[in-house]
Amino acid sequence: MPEFDQSKAYAGQEEVFFDDGREIELLHFVYGKSNINEIRGNPAKVLQAIDEFGRTKKYLMNVGEDKGKIVTDLIAEVKPQTMVELGGYIGYSCILFGDAVRKAGGKRYYSLERNPEFGAVIDSLVHLAGLSDIVKVEIGSSDASIKRLSDEGLLKHIDLMFLDHYKPAYTSDLKLCEELKLVTPGSVLAADNVITPGNPPYLEYVRSSVAEKQNKIKQPNGQSAPDARMAARSVNQYAQRGESTSLGNSAGNPNLEYDSRLVNSFEPTGEPDGIEISRCVGEE
Ligand SMILES: C[S@@+](CC[C@H](N)C(=O)[O-])C[C@H]1O[C@@H](n2cnc3c(N)ncnc32)[C@H](O)[C@@H]1O
Repeated sequence: MPEFDQSKAYAGQEEVFFDDGREIELLHFVYGKSNINEIRGNPAKVLQAIDEFGRTKKYLMNVGEDKGKIVTDLIAEVKPQTMVELGGYIGYSCILFGDAVRKAGGKRYYSLERNPEFGAVIDSLVHLAGLSDIVKVEIGSSDASIKRLSDEGLLKHIDLMFLDHYKPAYTSDLKLCEELKLVTPGSVLAADNVITPGNPPYLEYVRSSVAEKQNKIKQPNGQSAPDARMAARSVNQYAQRGESTSLGNSAGNPNLEYDSRLVNSFEPTGEPDGIEISRCVGEE
């Protein structure tokens, strides 16, 4: 793994590190830049301006350059027609990956974001980057948006999914996508933050064999100890921020088999983190 380049490190994460006005400050910073007309229609320059804010002003919870490259390489390989991200924040991953999907010949990038203010920021920066033709921002809880897009026939299959939202919802949303047959053999998943802060229940799910998943379903108490601990921790974290914590209870499709591996990398602050890449390779 290449070393982290400290000269590119974002500002450190404070106790309150989002939803304190910094997202609107970011818009003023980007639109106030003297070269704004060169930035228009140029995704790389929009990302540069966002990175500059993260480095010189305030921390932003973006995937960042290092982990971002893992996913853009994956996009170039998978060439998804349809890619979905769960958790958009201010649009960094959306602009980076939406641009990569377009370059790879893809048609649609859905960014599912629960917070309507963050969704408005994503829309503004996506428009600035000239990506509004391919990117669609869907406001609402990820599970509700997945169901609605599937019911409306707008989302028929997910070729590549980037999971970067409420940590306990990684597993419940994946199961929902399996149940709706949006995730099938051929689908690929890239899950962020599996080291920092970590997501043991999700890793356990995507790394389990079909037999292990079927056995777990047969056990009377469906929720494992790590599941329960992770859910409790995240419920507290999000409850403090007044966010809803309801999780779906889809059984998923335990017959799907994944080939899953961790790719180590860094948070934009330089802290070690990793992306779990899971390829759905078959159905028993
Ligand atoms: C880590 S940030 C996403 C960062 C973004 N993917 C990037 O790299 O630029 C997580 C985002 O997920 C959103 N979120 C949390 N729970 C969600 C849910 N259940 N549905 C949709 N969005 C959610 C939060 O509002 C937050 O904006």
